[in-house]
Amino acid sequence: MLRTKDILDEKDKRLRMVSKEVEFPLSDKDMEAIKLMKEYLTNSQIEDLAEKYKLRPGMGMAAIQLGIPKRYLVIVHEQEIKETFKTYVVINPTITSSSEEKIYVEEGEGCLSVNRPVDGIIPRCARITVEGFDELGKPIKVRAREELAIAFQHEIDHLNGILFVDRIDKKHPFKDSDKYRAI
Ligand code: NI
Repeated sequence: MLRTKDILDEKDKRLRMVSKEVEFPLSDKDMEAIKLMKEYLTNSQIEDLAEKYKLRPGMGMAAIQLGIPKRYLVIVHEQEIKETFKTYVVINPTITSSSEEKIYVEEGEGCLSVNRPVDGIIPRCARITVEGFDELGKPIKVRAREELAIAFQHEIDHLNGILFVDRIDKKHPFKDSDKYRAI
């Protein structure tokens, strides 16, 4: 089982690597990492388990956050019914379309690799289409909006060595907040 300490901290240079395309079939190591990522993200959003195992809550993780420089990510998205989740595993994801409209997380984005409070906002596309492959190498397409769209953009950034803090304007962290819609 993954613990919060197993996730790389922002000081770790590996988080700055551009991850490599994945070839199929997936290795046993990658299959195992995906299983652990799903389990961590799900448990961390279930209050009792998060408390019991001291898991920092998170809805998304990229392989590089476990030190694996490969292009895949897992997102576990809580549904309207509390503690029910939809899980996305996308290998070699690319954003194939995105909305003009931009939104941002009003309280600020979070990241399992950033363990400090960060002020500021990041305008992200309100709706995107992500294409890639599932664990078996079958092509998949996900249409994401709102919070889920932001999660995909945040995780795909990780695959390119970018952390959310990099996208915040250092001098004016709340710049343009009136131009975009807060969620
Ligand atoms: Ni992150």
